[in-house]
Amino acid sequence: MATHKIGIIMNGVTGRMGTNQHLIRSIVAIRSEGGVKLANGDVLYPDPILVGRNEAKLQALADAHGIERIGTDLEAALADDHNVIYFDSQTTVRRAEGIKQAIAAGKHIYCEKPTATSVEGSLELARLAQEAGVKNGVVQDKLFLPGLLKLKRLIDSGYFGEILSVKLDFGYWVFEGDWQEGQRPSWNYREEDGGGIIVDMFAHWRYVIDNLFGEIKSLTCLGATHINSRVDENGETYKATADDAAYAIFELQNGAVIQANSSWVTRVDRDDLLTIQVDGKLGSAVAGLRDCKTQHRVQTPRPTWNPDIPNPFDFQEQWEQVPENETYDNGFKIQWELFLKHIHQDDAFPWDLLEGAKGTQLSDLGLEAWHGRKWVDVPELNL
Ligand SMILES: NC(=O)c1ccc[n+]([C@@H]2O[C@H](COP(=O)([O-])OP(=O)(O)OC[C@H]3O[C@@H](n4cnc5c(N)ncnc54)[C@H](O)[C@@H]3O)[C@@H](O)[C@H]2O)c1
Repeated sequence: MATHKIGIIMNGVTGRMGTNQHLIRSIVAIRSEGGVKLANGDVLYPDPILVGRNEAKLQALADAHGIERIGTDLEAALADDHNVIYFDSQTTVRRAEGIKQAIAAGKHIYCEKPTATSVEGSLELARLAQEAGVKNGVVQDKLFLPGLLKLKRLIDSGYFGEILSVKLDFGYWVFEGDWQEGQRPSWNYREEDGGGIIVDMFAHWRYVIDNLFGEIKSLTCLGATHINSRVDENGETYKATADDAAYAIFELQNGAVIQANSSWVTRVDRDDLLTIQVDGKLGSAVAGLRDCKTQHRVQTPRPTWNPDIPNPFDFQEQWEQVPENETYDNGFKIQWELFLKHIHQDDAFPWDLLEGAKGTQLSDLGLEAWHGRKWVDVPELNL
């Protein structure tokens, strides 16, 4: 039984995703469980170095979570052979530069989505990684949400029969920052800083649709900047130049139609911040982040349209919960564990930089459809 320490450069770890999901819920959680246990009894133990601009912030984060190594010099961290993985959760516009440096230094790459700000930029990263022979992976956390795992279980069981349509509703109200602090970083609302809900969320919708529902044939999208002035982290008013809502339709190769609403300017009256309703010939289901409920054809009531009487149905009661049947861990952590095993013993890890580039392709096409007021086809993407 050996313990294999894996040196990981974590860049952008002082940010919202870096701190909460990648450091605390993934790397720190794995370390506190004693590492990732392999079938032969060996253990993979992540040994991160937190890298960034602000030494005091990095030190405070390291002290709070028992991390031994920090640094403000990325080149020095890349030059150290102990570090075999470069992880990047910086703001999107900074990602490509960091990844290119890391590939040149021979590091394996793991990073947040979107991998770059254009499909060309994302494909370039995938190509460079392939040419350098480094392993690579991109966060696709939504695939590991309990609600989506239950939905996938239904799809794989044949529950739906033919899937006819899907309604994907994502969003919540992000405060404008004037009378209540915004709960997302202000760069999200500035196009020039890599912001915008299409760039952000289509990266997710691509792998969710590809993995659950099938290949996308074409799409149309209407973006909007509903709120055009917000207040930033320093109390300064700024012009919101990026889209804060997107209304899209995806047509799949298999004929299914997906309507996808993504919005930071909507108040929630749904079961969850993300709900995915799937209507199949044999049954329907609605998945949220953790839960998934079903209504089979034999349990489908017969509503009749009659506004002259009070509604006799409690529609919410007509659905049945899909049982847990397993315990669900944090999705970011699961993917980290799989990536560490991929690095150490070559276990399969299909969510690579090419898959990440497909996400950027979809957001580029969404923007093209919106600005051109048209339907666009989604061509196959290859290296
Ligand atoms: N997988 C998901 O569900 C999910 C959710 C939200 C965001 N994200 C992605 O994660 C990334 C980070 O988002 P966030 O919300 O954590 O942002 P954030 O603004 O909270 O964090 C950004 C990080 O980048 C660093 N950074 C910014 N400018 C820098 C500079 N000039 N030099 C060096 N470092 C710099 C910051 O210090 C911070 O550590 C984005 O690419 C975003 O698209 C993914």
